Amino acid sequence: MRRIAAAVMAFWFLLDVGGSAMQKKYAALTFDDGPTGKYTARLLDILSEKDVHATFFLCGYRVEQYPELTARIARDGHEIGVHGFSHRCFSELDEQTLTDELDRECFLIGETAGYAPALVRPPCGALPEKNHRSPLSDYAVILWSVDPKDWATDDRTRIVRRVISGVKSGDIILMHDASDSSVDAVAEIIDCLKAEGYTFVTVSELAAVFGVELEKCSVYHRFGG
Ligand code: NI
Repeated sequence: MRRIAAAVMAFWFLLDVGGSAMQKKYAALTFDDGPTGKYTARLLDILSEKDVHATFFLCGYRVEQYPELTARIARDGHEIGVHGFSHRCFSELDEQTLTDELDRECFLIGETAGYAPALVRPPCGALPEKNHRSPLSDYAVILWSVDPKDWATDDRTRIVRRVISGVKSGDIILMHDASDSSVDAVAEIIDCLKAEGYTFVTVSELAAVFGVELEKCSVYHRFGG
């Protein structure tokens, strides 16, 4: 009888764990155009203090400018994707120029941080025409689903509200390490969403959580339903 009771309890425990796992919420914070230098170290301190791993879509010319910060981003366990060497719009480049932009940046990130990026985010989200995407064939293309336009305001509260009000589990949040208001907002966004049951993961981890195997050259805005 005792054995049966133990078995029933174990069954309920499993059900409960299964239930709460289903309800867990996940999101990915992403930061474009960096490392900007001035604000990056403080952002990295906040992420580390709050034990959050994010994804950084870096520009090659900035990596060249801030090799130490680039190395720290990798060392701190964040994911790194490419955002173009010079931040020129991908849809306006011929295939050879785009290949050079990506190869040059990828090589530099490898040299600087010992990291091989598998993700790309086109500047402004502007993709080349479908039949001119072969330069992207080494990467999964990651866009976003929540955009607080943090670059356009210095109002921290507005940035926080724009993210908090629209976010759903599986979302990819687009931000920049380019102002104090963005960095302050990140700290608050993390605290608010953690209190709502969110776990922050990198983009690749977010895909894995939702059972998505990232495919080269495919475009993703978010994961889940
Ligand atoms: Ni950008």
